[in-house]
Amino acid sequence: MAFESLIVLGLVATCCLIAPNDASLVFRARNRSMSAKPFKVLITHPEVPQSGIDLLKEHCELTQVLSLPPSRAELLEKIKGVDAVLWGGHSPLNAEALDAAGPQLKCISTMSAGIDYVDVAEMKRRKIPLGHSPTVLDAAVADLAVGLLIAAGRRFHEARRKIDSDNWESYHLNWLLGQDVRDSVVGFFGFGGIGQAIAKRLSGFDIDQVLYTTRRRIDQETEKELNAKKVDFDELLAKSDFVVIASPLTPATQGIFNATAFNKMKRTAVLVNIARGKIVNQNDLYDALKSNRIFAAGIDVMDPEPLPPTDKLLTLDNVVVLPHIGSATTRTRSDMSTIAAHNVLRGLAGEPMLSPAY
Ligand code: DGY
Repeated sequence: MAFESLIVLGLVATCCLIAPNDASLVFRARNRSMSAKPFKVLITHPEVPQSGIDLLKEHCELTQVLSLPPSRAELLEKIKGVDAVLWGGHSPLNAEALDAAGPQLKCISTMSAGIDYVDVAEMKRRKIPLGHSPTVLDAAVADLAVGLLIAAGRRFHEARRKIDSDNWESYHLNWLLGQDVRDSVVGFFGFGGIGQAIAKRLSGFDIDQVLYTTRRRIDQETEKELNAKKVDFDELLAKSDFVVIASPLTPATQGIFNATAFNKMKRTAVLVNIARGKIVNQNDLYDALKSNRIFAAGIDVMDPEPLPPTDKLLTLDNVVVLPHIGSATTRTRSDMSTIAAHNVLRGLAGEPMLSPAY
C-alpha cells in the first residue's frame, strides 16, 4: 500500500479509534455531574455525511439547517445559543454568524480544507478555536488534478465538441495533437499534501522532473523521493510544461496568475487549478487561452462559483472546466465529516483539535 494511503488510513483510524475514546473519556470525566448531553451543536448543512453526525450525537444535542440550498436566515436563527458548530458548506463564517451565536460559543470546525470563507482574524480575536478537514481529501483532489492535466493536455473538451458538431476530421494526420506527459517538467505552485500526492501519481507517468514554488523548502527526503526541486516563481513558469496550482488562497497568492505570469510560461504549457479560483486572474486566463499564449487549462475552481453558464471562458475549446468537485467522492466526504466532528468534540472538551486551522 502506498505510503500516502497509509497516512490517510492512519489519520482516519486515529479519528475513529483513538480520538473518540479520548473525547469520550474527557467528556465523561468533565461532565460526570451534568446531564448526558450537555452541549448544543449546530450542523449548518442538511447533507453533512452521517459519519460525523453519528459521532456528535453520542455526546451532544444536535440541531441542523434543513433548507437546501442552506438558507442564511435559517443558519442565523438556529445558531443562537449553540456551544459549537460543524460548518458544512461555504457560507461566510464571519462576525454576523458569531454575533448571532452568542458569547457561549466554544468552537467551530469546517468540513473543508480551504478556509477562505472564514473571517479568521475575527475568530482569533474572539479566541474561538477553528478546525478544518485537510489531508483526508488529498487523494481525491490529486486524482482529479491528474485527470484535468491529461484532459487539458490531450484536448478532451475540444475533441468532444468535434463529435458534437459533426467535424470528425481524422483524415488529418496531425488532428487534435496534444502535449505529452512523458518526459515533461511539472511545476507546482504550492507543494503541500495535495501537491505531493499529485506528484506521486505523476511519477507513474514517467515525467522528467518536478519543480515547486513554496515559501519554505520541503524536507529533503520527500524532495528526493519525488525528484522535486524548489525554484522561484519565474523559473517555475519558464521551465514547466504543466503548471499545477495547489496553494491556499491568501492575500499573497490572490491574482498571482495574471497576464505577466502567463507571458512567462511556455506557449505549449498547460495550467491546472485545483486550489481556488481567485489565485488566477480569470480575464487574463481567458486572453492567454484565446490567443494561444498558453496551450490549455484544466480548472476545478473559478471565480465566481457558481460560474454563470454564459461566462466567456466556457466558449473556449482549450479549457476543461469542472464545477469544484475535487473532494467529491463518497468516502472522502464521509472522512471529512468524521474529522470535523472530532474537531468539534475535542474543542468542546477543551482539548487541541485533530486538525486545528490555526
Ligand atoms: C476544500 O475542502 O477546501 C475543497 O476545496 C472543497 O471545498
